[in-house]
Amino acid sequence: MATRTDNRDRTRSTNERRERKTTRTGEKSAFDFASGNNAGPLLGALAAGAVIGIGANWARKFLMQQSESAMAGGQWDEILKIEHKATLAKFDLLLATDDDETAKRASLVKTIHYALNKHAHQEEQVVYPALRQANETVDADHLEHEHGYVKTFLYELENMPKDSPEFLVRVREFRDLIEQHARMEEEQVYPRFKEGLSEEQNKKITGLMNKEGMKML
Ligand SMILES: [Fe+2]
Ligand SMILES: [Fe+2]
Repeated sequence: MATRTDNRDRTRSTNERRERKTTRTGEKSAFDFASGNNAGPLLGALAAGAVIGIGANWARKFLMQQSESAMAGGQWDEILKIEHKATLAKFDLLLATDDDETAKRASLVKTIHYALNKHAHQEEQVVYPALRQANETVDADHLEHEHGYVKTFLYELENMPKDSPEFLVRVREFRDLIEQHARMEEEQVYPRFKEGLSEEQNKKITGLMNKEGMKML
């Protein structure tokens, strides 16, 4: 006589077989993320979140990430370029503030902090390790080292009185660091690295990077 445990085991192995079959026939892989094939369930979750009134901020960031990726033609380096440009534009808004606009300054520092955190996470978890695998270790280490200074600037700006006469001086220095760092990535390191990548490898990096970006929403 079949016991309850036997039945449970049978059900579990039927489900496992079904899952394996779906994986084989559907040929889903981590890379499908890049082509947006997984957007359906995510959009469903998004709608559910909206219905129960939570995750509106997450939803906004998710849609921004999707449109950013579409604008960049699904190319990891183009996505990063768009993020560089968008962040520098936020710095310009911050530099245009007056000493009495302390709330606006605090809010812009927060926005820049979020953008740089997400950007650095994508590079540090995917792009720089891929660079090291391609024997570009010196560049990867140099860039990651500079990310450390980005964090230091963020820490300073967040803890500095927003009406301090030093505030914009530090913002300008910070912007210079970001601009020079982004230029090195865009004009030297990424084009050289990308030259040696196949279409499949590019797709893989884009997919993995998008996946890491999603974790930071
Ligand atoms: Fe970077
Ligand atoms: Fe970057």
